[in-house]
This record gives sequence, structure tokens and C-alpha cells, in this order.
Amino acid sequence: MKKKINIAIDGPAAAGKSTISRRVAKRMAYIYIDTGAMYRAVTLHAIRNGRGVIDQLDDLDIRFGTDGTSIYLNGEDVSADIRSQEVTNNVSEISSLAEVRQYLVSMQRKIAEDKGVVMDGRDIGTTVLPEAELKVYMKASPEIRAKRRLKEEKERGIDIDLKTLTDQIIRRDDLDMNREISPLVKAHDAVLLDTSHMSIPEVEEKIIRMAEDLLRED
Ligand code: CDP
Ligand code: CDP
Repeated sequence: MKKKINIAIDGPAAAGKSTISRRVAKRMAYIYIDTGAMYRAVTLHAIRNGRGVIDQLDDLDIRFGTDGTSIYLNGEDVSADIRSQEVTNNVSEISSLAEVRQYLVSMQRKIAEDKGVVMDGRDIGTTVLPEAELKVYMKASPEIRAKRRLKEEKERGIDIDLKTLTDQIIRRDDLDMNREISPLVKAHDAVLLDTSHMSIPEVEEKIIRMAEDLLRED
């Protein structure tokens, strides 16, 4: 059987993780898993039904659609709802809870069991898949990341200014980097990629080349 690897992509908000991971997965015919979407789905569930639901996560049904971009919460397509400002402003707090992390990390590990997965998030290289054959930590300056997000929000018809987005990104990074359980940190064996001045195809090509080198070994 053809050798397969797991690829872990971590980094702060809007560094380019999901865009690049999706493209790399497509090129390699691997499965793409957006773990941020899973934390967002749990956050949406808690916003709708109250914090009490965090104690009953085993009843929750979170699935990805076959297109790799849609996410379903108890059978409902919530792909658009999980990107709302309300979810964005609450997700880091919900993600810091031990019950939430335990539940999602075990789901994520199960998905990656058979390899051939590109998974992006904050703790993939450090906690979820510490044995991943390829680990990348993407970063970019907060100003550039906020500008990228502004463009996306404008395209989605959301009226928000650059200052609000910059503050939001800085606050979320701070919470994600300083939480007690599996904070956002570069794994010691992750390759650091500063995407500030790199185009999407450039970043994609770099990761594909590293993956191909690993697949050629032994
Ligand atoms: O796409 P964006 O950078 O806005 O964020 P995301 O990847 O959708 O993740 C949303 C939030 O989920 C992050 O700010 C983290 O608080 C949390 N998260 C996490 O704690 N661990 C992960 N593996 C992925 C996301
Ligand atoms: O997943 P993450 O939050 O890290 O970032 P993303 O959603 O993949 O990327 C945020 C935005 O930056 C998207 O609109 C990408 O098209 C854009 N981007 C870019 O302009 N240049 C890059 N090298 C990477 C992403």
C-alpha cells in the first residue's frame, strides 16, 4: 500500500492555515480536518443552548460534509453560522475548557488514525498528533492577518473595521497562547513559516515539497 503521512498545521488566527491545508490535502488526495470549525461548532451549541451543554458533549453529533468544507451539528449544516462574530468572540473561552478539549482531541485523533490527514488548528503538532510526520507552524504579522480577515468579512457582506478586527485577533491569540491546557505554541520539531509576504501557492508548494521528501524516504 502507498505510504501515507499525517500533516499538522498550527498557528494564530488568519495565518493562512485552512486555505493552505485545504489545497495541500487536495493535491495529495488526503483528508482535510479544520479543528477550529469543531471548536466553533461546540461554541455555537453553547451559545444556543447555554453553558450547561458542555457537560453533555457525548450527546453531540459533529460531522464534516464530504466536500471537506461543510460542518454539521446534530444534522444541521452550521458552516455559515460558526463564522459569526458572536461565535468568534466566544470561541477562545469555550476552547479553554478541559471537557471541550478532551472531547474534541479524542475525536481528532480517531480521524487521523489511518494517516493521510492534513489537520489544522492550535495544538495539532503539540497535543493531538505529536507523532505527525510533518509539522508546520505558520505565522504572519497581526496587521497583515487583520487585513486578510477584513477582506474576507467584506466579501461576506459583514460591516466591520480594521481596528476592531486587529483587536479581536490580538485578544484571541492572547487567550489561545496563554490558556492552561494545550496553549498555542510552536512544537519544537515544527517548521516555522512566516506567510506575511508569501503568496498562497508559494506556501502550498513549500509544504508539498517537504511532504514529498518525507514520502520518498525509506
Ligand atoms: O480560522 P480562525 O483562525 O479564525 O480560527 P479557527 O481555526 O476557526 O479557530 C477558532 C478558535 O478555536 C481558536 O481561536 C481557538 O480558540 C480554538 N481552537 C483551539 O483551541 N484548538 C484548535 N486545535 C483549533 C482551534
Ligand atoms: O485558517 P487561518 O485562520 O489560519 O487562515 P485562512 O482562513 O486560511 O486565511 C485567512 C485569509 O488570508 C484568507 O482569505 C486567505 O486567502 C488569505 N491568505 C493570504 O492572503 N495569503 C496567504 N499566504 C495565506 C492566506
